[in-house]
Amino acid sequence: MQLIDGKAVAGRVLAQCKDDAMRLTAEGRAPGLAVVMVGDDPASRAYVGSKERTCVQLGFHSVKHELPADTTQQQLVGLVRQLNDDPEIDGILVQSPPPAHIDEAAVVRMIDPAKDVDGFHPDNVAKLAMEDDSAFVPCTPLGVQRLLQESGVDTAGAEAVVVGRSMIVGKPMALLLSRRGPGGDATVTIAHSRTRDLAAVCRRADILVAAIGRPRMIGPDHVKDGAVVIDVGINRIEDAGDKRGYRLVGDVDFDLVAPRCRAITPVPGGVGPMTIAMLMENTIRARRRRGV
Ligand code: GUN
Repeated sequence: MQLIDGKAVAGRVLAQCKDDAMRLTAEGRAPGLAVVMVGDDPASRAYVGSKERTCVQLGFHSVKHELPADTTQQQLVGLVRQLNDDPEIDGILVQSPPPAHIDEAAVVRMIDPAKDVDGFHPDNVAKLAMEDDSAFVPCTPLGVQRLLQESGVDTAGAEAVVVGRSMIVGKPMALLLSRRGPGGDATVTIAHSRTRDLAAVCRRADILVAAIGRPRMIGPDHVKDGAVVIDVGINRIEDAGDKRGYRLVGDVDFDLVAPRCRAITPVPGGVGPMTIAMLMENTIRARRRRGV
C-alpha cells in the first residue's frame, strides 16, 4: 500500500510557485491574491488564514478581507467590484460557504472571470466542460488530478467513481477525469446521497474519490482490492484528548480501508495541502495572463 503524500507534492509545487513569483516580481509586479470571508465559521477562518500565510511565504501580494456575519449582499458585491478594478489583484476568492442570507451564486457571477482563481464563475465552469484549456479549474479537484499524476496512477481507461456532486469538488472532478489527455480519459460515475447501493457502485472503482463531507462514511465494503482511494473530506470531530478539542478525519475510514488499497491519501496531509498549492498556481497563471 502506497501512502500518497500530498504535503510533499504540494511542497514541490509551492517551491516552483515561489520561483515564478520572484521572477514575476522582478518583471514589475508580484502576483496578487485577495481572499474574502464573511462570518466566523472556524473551519473557513482556518482555511483563509492558511491561504494568506502561504501567499506571504511565496512573496505574493496578499489581501485578506474578513467581513462580519451581517454583511449585506450589496456590501459584498461592492467589495468584489472594487477588487475587480484593483490592478494589483490577479485572483479573487470568496470563501465558501457564506452565511445563508448571501446569494453565493450571484456573488460568484460578479467576479471578473479573468480573476476567478477558484474556477467557480459560470464562464470557467463552461470552459472546463468544453475542454477549453484557458479555463480556471477549481483548486481541490485540480489538486486531486495532480496527485494522481504525481503518484503514477494511470487514469486512462480506468473506472473512476466520484462520490459527491458539489460544484466545488464532485462535478469538476468528474469533468477533469473524463476530459481528454493526461490525468483524464477515465470512465467516470458520479455517485451521491440518492445513489442506489452506493457500496456496490463504489466497488466498481479503480479510482475512488470521496467528496461527501461525512466522517468515515466510506468503509471497506465500498472499496475493491487494489483500488486507489482519494479522500477529499476534512471533517472536525470532537476529541477531548486533543488540545484544540477536535481532530480531523476524512470521508474514508482510513484504518479499515487502507489495507485493501493500492494507494490512499491520508487526512490531514493528503488533498488539503494540494488545494492551496493549486490556488497559488492559478494565481500565478492569472498574473501572467493579466501582465504587469
Ligand atoms: N470552501 C471549501 N473549499 C473552497 C475552495 O476551494 N474555494 C472557496 N472559495 N471556498 C471553499
